[in-house]
Amino acid sequence: MRQRRIQRSPLSVANEDKISTMKIAIAGKGGSGKTTLTAGLVLVFSQHKKTVIAVDCDPDMNLGIALGFPNPQKIVPITEMKELIAERTSSGEDSSGGYFKLNPKVDDIPEKFCPRHDNIRLIVMGKVQKAEGGCMCPENAFIKRLISHLVITEEVVLLDMVAGTEHLGRGTAHAVDAFLIVAEPTHLGVSTGLHTQELAGSLGIDKVWFVGNKIQDKSDEDFLKNNLKTEPIGFLSFNKNLLTARGKFVFDERLKKELSDIYEGLNRRFK
Ligand SMILES: Nc1ncnc2c1ncn2[C@@H]1O[C@H](COP(=O)(O)OP(=O)(O)OP(=O)(O)O)[C@@H](O)[C@H]1O
Ligand SMILES: [Mg+2]
Repeated sequence: MRQRRIQRSPLSVANEDKISTMKIAIAGKGGSGKTTLTAGLVLVFSQHKKTVIAVDCDPDMNLGIALGFPNPQKIVPITEMKELIAERTSSGEDSSGGYFKLNPKVDDIPEKFCPRHDNIRLIVMGKVQKAEGGCMCPENAFIKRLISHLVITEEVVLLDMVAGTEHLGRGTAHAVDAFLIVAEPTHLGVSTGLHTQELAGSLGIDKVWFVGNKIQDKSDEDFLKNNLKTEPIGFLSFNKNLLTARGKFVFDERLKKELSDIYEGLNRRFK
């Protein structure tokens, strides 16, 4: 977090004068609606003529489907680009003693290797290794560097995170400005949400907001407000159209309105 502030390029500072830059991790419990919210927000940002970097940090890789990318099953995740990672981190077979570069070149990766659809660039991370005893493997170093690069150089970066909280201390969450935590109106939704909020705070992230999802009535909203002890930035109603679309994001008038409200809420808070 602190390192990121120091590293900000003159380009991002210049952008900040005109419009806010936003680097947001979307987190929450499994199945709460992280991918749905990420896809919806990516599309709303893109409708506002912003180039958006959508980062799929979930090894299940369904953000491409949600966003309607053509042939999502053909997208090669970054961690599968073994030769490229070996070359850039100097960690190939002829590297000595298991040493590798922690600052590999990554600035050409989005453009050369990640698909773009309209004004949305999709970065699919793939499976990131679990760090054993605090060690980092070349793939993780590469991903970490790539995320740092994106958050410094790009205007809007939205990351669809892995479910739960266990992974948050590693890798991808370190460099964002804000967390949006998706919470369903259940006791488990609230407890996971509060735990995620605490962890985001311990990473040094001060912008942490909730989005209530699968809301059926006012009592669901009240349950979340009372138990999260804060007003969520917005709510998404339970929406049968999303279920019918089977993993693809679909807008209807109500979803459009609810996501626009969240978009406006983000803009106000980032000013
Ligand atoms: N507001 C909603 N109304 C109805 N169904 C929803 C809503 N939001 C999400 N869903 C559905 O709930 C399921 C889980 O949503 P989604 O995949 O977005 O969650 P996730 O948090 O990304 O899950 P995972 O932890 O597996 O990555 C999907 O079938 C999705 O269509
Ligand atoms: Mg998901």
